[in-house]
Amino acid sequence: MGIMYEFSPHPVWVGPFQEYIKPYWDEILEGEFVEGITHTKLSLSEMQGWMLQLYPFIHTFPKFLAEALVKVEDEYARSYLIDNIRVEKAHAEQWLWMGQGFGLRKEQMLELAEGRRPVLRDVQSLTDWIWYINTKGSLAEAVAATSFAIEGVTGDICRKILPGFEGYRGMPGVDMSPKTYKWMRQHAVYDDEHPKIAMEVVKRYATTERMQERVMLAAKRSLQLINLAFNTSYRAYSTADDANTFVPVDNRSGERRMQQVNLNFPERRFGDRRGRQIRAVA
Ligand SMILES: [Fe+2]
Repeated sequence: MGIMYEFSPHPVWVGPFQEYIKPYWDEILEGEFVEGITHTKLSLSEMQGWMLQLYPFIHTFPKFLAEALVKVEDEYARSYLIDNIRVEKAHAEQWLWMGQGFGLRKEQMLELAEGRRPVLRDVQSLTDWIWYINTKGSLAEAVAATSFAIEGVTGDICRKILPGFEGYRGMPGVDMSPKTYKWMRQHAVYDDEHPKIAMEVVKRYATTERMQERVMLAAKRSLQLINLAFNTSYRAYSTADDANTFVPVDNRSGERRMQQVNLNFPERRFGDRRGRQIRAVA
């Protein structure tokens, strides 16, 4: 089932669009987060940090697409979004496997996805933005922000970090099974198509100069916010002597829970990494 996704030549405005977002795209691919995994430098708890914090976003992803689906007016965009929703459902499951392979418990991830514990501020910003643009934005903006920018940069991230990611095999606390690397391998390969089809949808719907400008801004905002979300969430789980010591997240959250009882205070998380000033990130 489904339709063949055809590609048309790019109209003139697509060149400047790609040029406009390139610095934000590159900033992610050349930044500490991607470089850290590429060289298998992020600690286990830092790896757990981003897998835990980003899970709710991955879990909600099909709902974002469903909001955009409501707006479609042609068969091409309709088929694309429906196909993508189905695919992304499976990806949430694979993300859980990935987290578990890195020592997270499924319940920890579900707890965040179900809103029983809050995500970090910058992760919340990403999620709120993608909700907003899919519900309140035009279809062109929604698809540019979500399937083009987020899925597009994710594909590039995965292609770059895949060998370094699999380099965690053998690290204490990591079980690099086929289930663990499934999400990463899948996104290194076939999410490749999604951003290209997304671009076709954007081209079909962004037919005025005003809308083309809004599409540029929407894609840029997604790239900025996903960059912040990844960086904040791995840094928030750094420990002072992260390079050498493996501290299971389970134990640490156990300690925090005990402190919480005494303080009767919602959890707060502070980033303190490599000499940077302590600052609140939650
Ligand atoms: Fe996916």
